[in-house]
Amino acid sequence: MKLGNRPRTFALEKVKKNTTNMKAIVYTKYGAPEVLELKEVEKPTLKDNEILVKIKATAVNSGDWRLRKADPYAVRLFFGLMKPKINILSGVLSGQIEAIGKDVKRFKVGDEVFGSTALSSGFGAYAEYKCLPEEAVLALKPRNITHAESAAIPFGATTALHFIKKANIMPRQKVLVYGASGAVGSAAVQLAKHFGAHVTGVCSTANVNLVKSLGADKVIDYIKEDFTKNGETYDVIFETVNKTLFSHILKSLNKNGILILSAAGLSEMIRGAWTSMTGNRKVVTGVISETAEDMIFLKELIEAGQLKPVIDRTYPLAQMAEAHAYVEKGHKKGNVAIVV
Ligand SMILES: NC(=O)c1ccc[n+]([C@@H]2O[C@H](COP(=O)([O-])OP(=O)(O)OC[C@H]3O[C@@H](n4cnc5c(N)ncnc54)[C@H](OP(=O)(O)O)[C@@H]3O)[C@@H](O)[C@H]2O)c1
Repeated sequence: MKLGNRPRTFALEKVKKNTTNMKAIVYTKYGAPEVLELKEVEKPTLKDNEILVKIKATAVNSGDWRLRKADPYAVRLFFGLMKPKINILSGVLSGQIEAIGKDVKRFKVGDEVFGSTALSSGFGAYAEYKCLPEEAVLALKPRNITHAESAAIPFGATTALHFIKKANIMPRQKVLVYGASGAVGSAAVQLAKHFGAHVTGVCSTANVNLVKSLGADKVIDYIKEDFTKNGETYDVIFETVNKTLFSHILKSLNKNGILILSAAGLSEMIRGAWTSMTGNRKVVTGVISETAEDMIFLKELIEAGQLKPVIDRTYPLAQMAEAHAYVEKGHKKGNVAIVV
């Protein structure tokens, strides 16, 4: 998620039914999934440097329910103290370009695109349309997958790619991915394999076959085995769900090894920084950055058959509250897609 420009606000009230309107899932207060309502809002208007995307699919990601509920409370410091300043969520989309501004060079009308609409672009993909600057985190949609599958890529795969690049994962390194069945984990297994690592995935019994099918060389079922106690050590441990104990996990890291904590809270970030400064192991945490080049790289990987989207469930836009309730349970396999 990038912190950047001020997001655009949407006119929510007194919108008459006409062609300049669109359907969107709107929330005006923090709370349970039911705060998400299907409404008519103003269709965004195009600027000279922007493209107008007719959204075909989006996804519900782990960050979305946190913003909906303002959980943790610190969300309110950035997104509105009493009520949300951004009323339409979702940082990912896949769709078709319906119009372009006069200065746009990178895309043309009719192009199918996918990518990220995170904070720098004002979120807003739980909707029929979204305007984005042409330099946004977008690429042409992979030809060999559907819009729902494309929408399932950006959140997990850009996160996994960001941290894999930070850790500079190399061929033949031993990499363990913890939480290998989630959005970030399922992408991390596949990307680490692409970069030539020997990958061990950790997941529950129900997801062992899924993680094997993503190419993991070895799968550990955390219900049956504690990987921190089996004597194995790794060059890189990628903890994607923040469900392990920092002190335990460090014991499974080789000397000069790297621990990626992509879901770290403040206390893990502080301990991580201290460990990196004082020991021979490095801890990598923080908020990701993502670029259009990342999306192009992922598109090429998908078309080469080296990265597959993992979709657990697909819901229509109108069933957003149900989709949020499911994702919030924290046990989805890969991604939950929304067809618009
Ligand atoms: N740093 C950043 O900028 C950044 C960017 C994106 C995301 N994130 C964070 O990354 C985290 C993960 O996101 P995500 O979308 O990948 O999550 P997710 O898809 O919601 O994770 C669900 C998966 O986690 C597994 N899981 C749950 N409990 C587990 C446990 N105790 N041990 C191992 N696996 C467990 C579940 O499988 P089972 O229930 O079967 O175990 C399920 O497959 C989120 O907290 C998100 O906020 C950070």
